[in-house]
Amino acid sequence: MAASLKKNRPCYVTTPIYYVNAKPHIGHAYTTILCDTFARFYRFLGHEVYFLTGTDEHGEKIEKTAQQQGVPTIEYVDQVSERFRALWNDLGITHDDFIRTTEQRHIEVVHCVLQQLHAKGDIYLGKYKGWYCTPCETFWTQSQLEKGNCPDCKRPTQELEEDNYFFKMSKYQDWLIDYIKAHERFIVPQSKEKEVLSFLKEPLEDLCISRPIARMAWGIPLPFNADHVLYVWFDALINYISAIKYGKDNEYFNKYWPATIHFMAKDILRQHAIYWPIMLHALGLEMPEYVLAHGYWTMEGAKMSKSVGNIADPYDVIAAFNRDTLRYFLLKEVRLGLDGAYADEYVAGRFATDLANDLGNLIHRSFSMLEKYKGGVLPKAHADDTYGPIKKAALALGPAISEAMVEKLDPREALTVLWEFIGMINKLIEDTKPWTLAKDPAHAAALEDFLYVLFESLRFIAVTLVPFMPDTAEKILELLQQETTCTIDEIRTWGGLKAGIKLEKGDPLFPKLEEKK
Ligand code: MSP
Repeated sequence: MAASLKKNRPCYVTTPIYYVNAKPHIGHAYTTILCDTFARFYRFLGHEVYFLTGTDEHGEKIEKTAQQQGVPTIEYVDQVSERFRALWNDLGITHDDFIRTTEQRHIEVVHCVLQQLHAKGDIYLGKYKGWYCTPCETFWTQSQLEKGNCPDCKRPTQELEEDNYFFKMSKYQDWLIDYIKAHERFIVPQSKEKEVLSFLKEPLEDLCISRPIARMAWGIPLPFNADHVLYVWFDALINYISAIKYGKDNEYFNKYWPATIHFMAKDILRQHAIYWPIMLHALGLEMPEYVLAHGYWTMEGAKMSKSVGNIADPYDVIAAFNRDTLRYFLLKEVRLGLDGAYADEYVAGRFATDLANDLGNLIHRSFSMLEKYKGGVLPKAHADDTYGPIKKAALALGPAISEAMVEKLDPREALTVLWEFIGMINKLIEDTKPWTLAKDPAHAAALEDFLYVLFESLRFIAVTLVPFMPDTAEKILELLQQETTCTIDEIRTWGGLKAGIKLEKGDPLFPKLEEKK
């Protein structure tokens, strides 16, 4: 379990800060929704949460894109950063902060970090010779190249030699290996931990962290040599501590650091599992509790990416369905860590079966029955010992989803557990046949017992949905006349619904696509 959860201290969760060289797509939305789900879940458990996202705005790639578009770089980054911010607002993301690396508050902390590492002797001036991939902003050694091309994006590289500053990563290699080995779940999932350890079997080279300003001006100038700007990755990683005022407000910083989880895809695991821990260690700071790398969303068999052009727009999914459908699909479709195939038909499939059919119909038919048999008034339960298995399963929901999220870091399993319960309630309706009970006055009490169990089960479902599908949870809770801001405490005991309340049937939660049009 995350130490912050054990110690009851605030949870600090982060997304990568996204490059502003293209508009956001489903891949970016996935990481942010995943992080939002954990943030909401920690709040649901009663923790204070600090959820950070933002944009990474320096570097050659961004400078070049702005030039191609004929816009001053700062105007360009302002526009694209705004698109990320707008998308997160439109998706109902509950971040507490949105950091931009062009902000003064970030630049000040970057300077403070560089001064500290420089004073400590961990940054030195040296000669860099290597093969540079401009799109990836990465220098490669000759042995890393594939037929002279970048091993990541497969595009041509350029040979460069220049004076540059270096960060002494090699000095900390043994420490990092020991740390990873001693902290079994520092890198999640385990397959990725193995990959990092295997990469660390080779000697780690010192990291070249500067670029001559003459070649690349769009970066943070080094405080000890203004002819150089900082390498974009060194700048970007510092966002995780600049947002919480490292070096400026110790009390604030110590409240949130160390981070609970840094989320990202596997493309940038190396930076987060090697560079970043070493930077933190060199600064004398504690390690984040988890570095979690998920897989890629692919489309037509390739990683969804702007450069390939195979991207899906989150706005299209919200327009066709709604934002909870997007959340549900992304969280349920893949096992965390594995790649997932995206296609509009797959979303439509989940929508029709799991959402409209299993959940939407359950809500709709329950309210229809209550209206038909009881004029919408929730009856009192008579017998306490009937429906034991249902109550037991309802009371097991909280512990089961906590285990899935806290111990296993697995929202998919949490949703699976909830959908098993939804299936159980749907089956309960079929098995009990309330339409038969309603025909015979001798079964009046049995019908009332059933209706109470049914509606109380809906309350358990709605509360459990809160961190995962917040809009849907809110709608059901409103229909049940319950508080919409609720925590896991609401599903610790059975019997929260008061008999005698008059409930109204609402609109379908997941209208069929043609109805929506
Ligand atoms: N700016 C760096 C991150 C710096 S963090 C200190 C960066 N930006 S990025 O815009 O390229 O974002 C990469 C991240 O976006 C991935 O790690 C992942 O979180 C998300 N994704 C982008 N494409 C994705 C997929 N096709 N599939 C899954 N996630 C994707 O790297």
